[in-house]
Amino acid sequence: HEEFTKVKNIATIELGRYEIETWYFSPFPPEYNDFLKLYFCEFCLNFMKRKEQLQRHMRKCDLKHPPGDEIYRSGTLSMFEVDGKKNKVYGQNLCYLAKLFLDHKTLYYDVDLFLFYVLCECDDRGCHMVGYFSKEKHSEESYNLACILTLPPYQRKGYGKFLIAFSYELSKKEGKVGTPERPLSDLGLLSYRGYWTRVLLDILKKHKGNISIKELSDMTAIKAEDILTTLQGLELIQYRKGQHVICADPKVLDRHLKAAGRGGLDVDVSKLIWTPYK
Ligand code: COA
Ligand code: NA
Repeated sequence: HEEFTKVKNIATIELGRYEIETWYFSPFPPEYNDFLKLYFCEFCLNFMKRKEQLQRHMRKCDLKHPPGDEIYRSGTLSMFEVDGKKNKVYGQNLCYLAKLFLDHKTLYYDVDLFLFYVLCECDDRGCHMVGYFSKEKHSEESYNLACILTLPPYQRKGYGKFLIAFSYELSKKEGKVGTPERPLSDLGLLSYRGYWTRVLLDILKKHKGNISIKELSDMTAIKAEDILTTLQGLELIQYRKGQHVICADPKVLDRHLKAAGRGGLDVDVSKLIWTPYK
């Protein structure tokens, strides 16, 4: 494994009020590689080698939120849609930043082809990035998410499942099913499994009578294959007379739901104002 993973270059970053230890190598331009620490502007994501440079930058940077359209606001949470073509530098900066926490994803220099959905916690000083996911503008493989990241200080609070839920809400608005790009990291897979389990079992619990995988897929925008693997993983699928049959014993469902962890932060669809990218 070691020989395929490049040696970690940047050890820590400063971003907003956080100093964050990095996890992996990220291919910053060579002139940044001799620095153990980089200083990011939390709004435009430009990165600098010295604290004084950042302080000078903060005095003149006008941005107080990601450079895109606010498409969701509920309480202090906002989502911004950033077009990689209109905001190339921001998109590239975000990719450099994200790669510090992603092992195997290739970095997309071609940010033109992607939209970035940036989740922020907003207060009177501005909108502070919590995490994001990227999405291809046009995916042949019905991917509705390419990369997903919750910044370490915000992890394990339900933001990851919020981002996943959000990606499926966008797919529902497009009238398409979606699936995340593979491979998923261990943490990515755990988060997706938790999300799929909760969404599907909540429906099975409430539903009376038979329901097919196709119907589940239409209701959730989750791709049929992902539904099948999730339910098979929970041993809720039987194969009878050439047909998949879903077991829906309420006691079994409740046991799995408990094991699937917390639901994460909910997406309030009524607060999503968005039209699909054309
Ligand atoms: N240990 C064990 N389980 C974990 C975990 C950890 N460190 N982090 C997440 N999980 C599992 C849990 O089941 C958790 O649900 P629970 O807290 O109800 O038990 C579930 O994943 C999701 O937790 P949530 O708080 O909604 O997610 P998050 O905000 O921590 O974000 C990722 C999840 C995957 C986005 C985040 O870990 C991350 O950014 N990782 C680095 C980048 C990455 O690997 N991205 C995916 C590949 S594209
Ligand atoms: Na996590």
